[in-house]
Amino acid sequence: MKDSLSDALVFFGVTGDLASKQILPALQSMIRHGNLNVPVIGVAGRPWSADQLRAHVHDSLEQHGGVDTAAFEKLISLLQYVSGNYKDETTYTKLRNALGSAKHPLYYLAIPPSLFGPVVEGLAKSGCANNARVVIEKPFGRDLASAQSLNQILRSVFPESAIFRIDHYLGKEPVQNVLYFRFANSFLEPIWNRNYIKCIQITMAENFGVAGRGKFYEEAGAIRDVVQNHLLQLVAILMMDAPSGEDSDAIRGEKARLLRSAKPLDPSEVVRGQYRGYPQEPGVDPDSQVETFAAVKLHIHSWRWANVPVYIRAGKWVPVTGTEIEVELKRPPQAVFHQSEPAHSNYYRFRLSPLVKISLCARAKVPGEAMRGEEVELVATHQSPDEMPPYERLLTNAMRGDMTLFVREDTVEAAWRIVDPVLGNVTPVYEYEPDTWGPPQADQLIAQDGGWYNPEHSMTSGASGPHPAGEQA
Ligand code: BG6
Repeated sequence: MKDSLSDALVFFGVTGDLASKQILPALQSMIRHGNLNVPVIGVAGRPWSADQLRAHVHDSLEQHGGVDTAAFEKLISLLQYVSGNYKDETTYTKLRNALGSAKHPLYYLAIPPSLFGPVVEGLAKSGCANNARVVIEKPFGRDLASAQSLNQILRSVFPESAIFRIDHYLGKEPVQNVLYFRFANSFLEPIWNRNYIKCIQITMAENFGVAGRGKFYEEAGAIRDVVQNHLLQLVAILMMDAPSGEDSDAIRGEKARLLRSAKPLDPSEVVRGQYRGYPQEPGVDPDSQVETFAAVKLHIHSWRWANVPVYIRAGKWVPVTGTEIEVELKRPPQAVFHQSEPAHSNYYRFRLSPLVKISLCARAKVPGEAMRGEEVELVATHQSPDEMPPYERLLTNAMRGDMTLFVREDTVEAAWRIVDPVLGNVTPVYEYEPDTWGPPQADQLIAQDGGWYNPEHSMTSGASGPHPAGEQA
């Protein structure tokens, strides 16, 4: 089964938001690139006719990326619809019939986690789960304990080698580039450790609020929504040891090892903020303590990374939209020139969005008599309008059985172990003004390491809007 092509794609939640915004456009693109030529079966509760589904697919594509007539027609010719209650046996009988001769289907569960149990059970009882793969969306639980029970539900039916846990950050081209840049070059490795690196910062900034997702966000908050998953995945890719090869387990094994060596967060090193006006958002509790901003200091307990703090910051309604990593090198041991160099002089920057850039920031002499310097940036950029969107890449890989870009059970659990001590409002939440960089306490957290690098305003061009993952149908 490993590495064989799935011969049907079934997705639960076909009428939902995630399907409209991400999955249907990804399927159209897969067809355009010749990567999808098997039956596609949408499952959902609404009693729609084939025409209604067709109209829904058309509208979704029109609103999210555009309709490619030939690919759309092909998608419609592959598409069937099974409507029914996810807890009802007959739904799975209908699904079994729709699958026809397919022997290795891929099930995509774009549904709330509370329905994973009934769906997995329904698939198992009807025989639909045999030799199948399953793709599940984040969030994988709300904390370590619930993630473990979710994993137990999945593992009662599917082997780990058939479970594809999506974190769409792993499907992003610039995130893949971090991995590539680190291990396709030899100049980084000798300095990628505590001897040369002073600290690391990761900022994920969003210049918008919860954008109508208040109800979902009330259950999440910034730490659960993006720190536990997207940002800890970035930490893992940035700081893991070299994998022994390109195979999925070598890479995933190193990532898991890195996250396992992180210390659980200490509440005294976590600052939570909430933008003014959040409690008035639709679906939000007027007394909400949920954070829309979080800044944390993480410590990796390893030979390579001891005493190199990792600062992670994520916020909604901050001044720009963009995600950036800065890896700051230690200062030269002595000041040879009279002018004292600014605190941030040498660093690697991985700008992941909206513009992609990898650069090394250094000091160079300003022409003239004095030995005075200025900051220069040695830049590697790569901009391609044809970059494959994350969902297309991830679904294509899942259909092929390639697990490299999916999150393994041990990694999910290691990430929950890191954030568990600071979940559940154990630290105060401070109000901040929209369009600012969160509460001032976040600046104090990093003061001894010279302060945050704020992604620049120029980054906002082409910024993407809110992404719907986590609030499936
Ligand atoms: C999602 C979160 O997983 O990622 C959202 O639920 C967040 O709150 C989004 O906005 C960010 O994704 P991207 O791809 O737009 O950076």
